[in-house]
Amino acid sequence: MDIASIALLRWYLEAGVDEVVGETPVNNYLTFKKKKNISSLKENCNRSFQHTKKSIDSILSIPNTASALAAQCTTLESLRAAVTGFDGCTLRTNAANTVFADGTPTAPVMVIGEAPGVEEDRQGLPFVGPSGHLLDKMLESIGLERHRNCYMTNVVPWRPPGNRKPTPVEVSIVLPFLERHITLAAPKILLLVGGLAASAVLPGHEGIMKVRGKWFEYSVGLTRPIPAIATFHPAYLLRSPAQKRLAWHDLLALESRLNQIL
Ligand code: URA
Repeated sequence: MDIASIALLRWYLEAGVDEVVGETPVNNYLTFKKKKNISSLKENCNRSFQHTKKSIDSILSIPNTASALAAQCTTLESLRAAVTGFDGCTLRTNAANTVFADGTPTAPVMVIGEAPGVEEDRQGLPFVGPSGHLLDKMLESIGLERHRNCYMTNVVPWRPPGNRKPTPVEVSIVLPFLERHITLAAPKILLLVGGLAASAVLPGHEGIMKVRGKWFEYSVGLTRPIPAIATFHPAYLLRSPAQKRLAWHDLLALESRLNQIL
């Protein structure tokens, strides 16, 4: 492949294009322009209005569907099946796998990240790519290991195309599953990694810079609240290693609270 083609592919990737949907490009604009007659224009408008209305109606009804499904789940395995079978979130369409969880479901610490990346999507497991490797090392530094005393999941179980951030609508659609996930796993402590996990689990507390390193109580659907602490996302720490110092403080706070509880 020549240099110009590689540069073009790289440019596509940076612009978020990471799926090939067909061999031949289709200029839908030209096809549309050929339809000069007014009645077909009207028909098109009407069809697209109905389509938009249907999408809005389904978006508005999906949170209930997810929460109704989640409420019926009494085990982590039934919740995994419900999430895997859920078709109310368009992110699922492009994902190779549903990424539900990894680690020890009975662990005292539940780690919640943002959404799967490329490697997580390929393997169907959370935090198995470069940021996951850093997260494993961070946890190990305070005696936590995913296959011994740690359980991991994400706010969103499907990889957003091009690794973009999940939108607030996408988060609100799947949030009932995460809430049920926390209830069923019943950890002693929640570790929220990154701003999106922090704002999804602790609504009203915006901004990772403000919330990190502080203790909050998470109580949705619980009789006894769970202490929750947020820290920087490992992907951010890979880009900004100087912030590892603050993340280390957050981990020490987690270790000391855990020692008090256990
Ligand atoms: N980033 C996340 O937030 N979660 C993963 O599982 C991987 C990367």
